[in-house]
Amino acid sequence: TAGLGTKRVGSSVICLKETDSTNSVAFKMAEEGAPEGTVVIADTQSAGKGRLGRIWLSPPGVNLYCSVVLRPAIAPVAACQLTFLSVVAVARAVERCTNLKPQIKWPNDILINGKKVAGLLNEMNAETEKVNFVVLGIGVNLNLRMAVISEGLLRHPATSLLEEGGEEVDRLRFTRALLEELDQLYDNFLVQGDGPVRAEWLARSAIKGRSVRVSQQNREFSGVVQGVDSFGALLVLLGDGTLETVLSGDVAFI
Ligand code: BTN
Repeated sequence: TAGLGTKRVGSSVICLKETDSTNSVAFKMAEEGAPEGTVVIADTQSAGKGRLGRIWLSPPGVNLYCSVVLRPAIAPVAACQLTFLSVVAVARAVERCTNLKPQIKWPNDILINGKKVAGLLNEMNAETEKVNFVVLGIGVNLNLRMAVISEGLLRHPATSLLEEGGEEVDRLRFTRALLEELDQLYDNFLVQGDGPVRAEWLARSAIKGRSVRVSQQNREFSGVVQGVDSFGALLVLLGDGTLETVLSGDVAFI
């Protein structure tokens, strides 16, 4: 962590050659009292976790798999605001380390040229009134050659910074940039709340005013995006004038 210019994130950094999932390791450490800012990084994961019980492909040597323990004094309903932090931090780190233009896709995917380059998985330990800790899990495809991945393993079109930018990205440099941006955003969040980071999220997502189709488990509808609320839900205006608050589902532009 030498030279890491952070206040909290990276207070201690644990680097592992191989583990099942950095989120699982960080969660267990947090349960045992690991301090805020503890970061767990692995070169490869044998059981990387994606959202909705999916697996996250985690080959060695090429990507970033990391998990960050935070202990904000907030209510559990507000914890989703931390998703804004990690998404925006990844976008900023991509811009610091490449010439690429990352785009945010609600709720928490980072795309480049329409293909997914990073995913986020937050896990939380909370009581009714207060959060004990949150683990922010961040996976970024840095130098992965997509040709080595058989397409059947991918749910959505995926890519890496190398594929899109044509240049290798230094993993240590990227990791530093990410942890520094996350630290700065978190510091700001503790002082000013989620307003500024939510505004940056919205500007980067370029989703406001777009027509979308939302697919949920047993329902599909279309409308125009108005923004996101402070809980991260997407606000979609339907043709009949009702405003839907979308907490989960797949969103496609139409
Ligand atoms: C998704 O888009 O489905 C979320 C993927 C999150 C992957 C990261 S990699 C580091 C951390 N450890 C895990 O097991 N998952 C997250």
